[in-house]
Amino acid sequence: GSAVPSTPFASPAASASPAASASPASPSTSADPTTSFTPVFHVGHFVNAADTDPSVAANRSVVREVLGRVASSTLGVATIDAARVIDERRLDDRLGAPVAAADAWGSLSGAARGEVLHRIGEALEAHRADLIEVMASETGKTADQADPEVSEAVDFAHYYAELAAQLDDVDGAVAVPEKLTLVTPPWNFPVAIPAGSVLSALAAGSAVVLKPAGQAERCGALLAEIIKPVLPDADLLTLVQVEENGLGRQLIAHALVDRVILTGAYETAQLFRSFRADLPLLAETSGKNAIIVTPSADLDLAVKDVVHSAFGHAGQKCSAASLVILVGSVARSERFRHQLLDAASSLTVGWPSDARSQVGPVVEPAAGKLLDGLTKLGPGEKWLLEPKSLDGSGRLWSPGIRDGVTRGSEFHRTEYFGPVLGVMTAATLDEAIDLVNDVDFGLTSGLHSLDPAELQTWLDRVQAGNLYVNRGITGAIVRRQPFGGWKKSAVGPGTKAGGPNYLVGLTGWRSAPAVD
Ligand code: ALA
Repeated sequence: GSAVPSTPFASPAASASPAASASPASPSTSADPTTSFTPVFHVGHFVNAADTDPSVAANRSVVREVLGRVASSTLGVATIDAARVIDERRLDDRLGAPVAAADAWGSLSGAARGEVLHRIGEALEAHRADLIEVMASETGKTADQADPEVSEAVDFAHYYAELAAQLDDVDGAVAVPEKLTLVTPPWNFPVAIPAGSVLSALAAGSAVVLKPAGQAERCGALLAEIIKPVLPDADLLTLVQVEENGLGRQLIAHALVDRVILTGAYETAQLFRSFRADLPLLAETSGKNAIIVTPSADLDLAVKDVVHSAFGHAGQKCSAASLVILVGSVARSERFRHQLLDAASSLTVGWPSDARSQVGPVVEPAAGKLLDGLTKLGPGEKWLLEPKSLDGSGRLWSPGIRDGVTRGSEFHRTEYFGPVLGVMTAATLDEAIDLVNDVDFGLTSGLHSLDPAELQTWLDRVQAGNLYVNRGITGAIVRRQPFGGWKKSAVGPGTKAGGPNYLVGLTGWRSAPAVD
């Protein structure tokens, strides 16, 4: 999940590329001739470098390279897949088709829907390389991160297929599927999260409108291309883009939308709620996550897990480790810090087009919160490893580790969403747990300890949705580690993605007829 600095409905900067005036090359961008329509080139943030700097044209993940064309209407919403541009006046009509498709789909048995979901899982697997490519080129994801992300999407398909079948068999209750689900995923997991959200809603019997993040339009379009042909009715999945204007808001507030599944910033969930007070919203939101390391820990393992959790995908995960809290003698000795410094310094920072890259680009321009996190030390803080902007693009940053982060400081409580880790210290495990709990969020949390009593203390007290022991705190595995937050890391019922209750929470229920 993610805390995205912008809202999902913020307008991506439309390019003023000379190519923008060219006629669309792909049939997928052709427009409904009855509707005012302006095709633009604007894929997220990687636009047009090839126009200005031929030396970078070969690099598929360089900033400002043209990667694709997406349909966009001056009125706001366009479907890429069907090229049916919709505007405010036609929104009711456009949403009518998926709602109608949901009638037949929702009246199938869960097992029958599950069969379709299994086939979608196979289709996703068959497109593994394409999905990795689009994640790398569009969102800067390095292959070591993108490959398991495809696995997660495939796992979601097969797992939700099994859960769909279980909906047929709940004692005393009959599932009444919702008709229409709006899915608004983030850019940082541009395949697994939209796939998981879309497939859960489909498995539960609903039709889906998918609105990919503006920085991940091609990822969303490819997912729709893979999933739609497998569905019995193409109207079960509608892909939309929302540009500037009130259409995102209208979609959220629309009476035909039964449910919104959002992964994004806490503020975005609040914004959605402000559009519609009674919105049935299932949101996974921000995180400010810590790993505690006690003197009983295997320190070599702890270093590896902290580094992976903090700097994988350049820290752009809601689940990322943003703090490591050293307890007692680990805090007092320099050994752990030295190992951490060595390990983080050894990471290869680079574009995903280079297979050696372990820390890729930051997707949001380095500004605001992120830049503060990467550059500005708070009182008492010092760099154990100072992050450096590497190539003038403002996107490649070497990992940063700041020592001396204190309780209640800005770094202690702010989610930065970049490759920067803070080191805090505590005299005791209880004090460390207090530091973990003294933030608004509660998404993931880690403990490195080989002492069962410490483990129990931590389990009893720590406030986070996802707890990991002697393991990194990112990369929840479908079925094994259902994923969802606590406190301000979740808005809505808080059921966990990839867990046994997720579909039940997306379904209405009525009593089964009494049998004498
Ligand atoms: N599900 C993602 C993870 O666990 C966010 O890292």
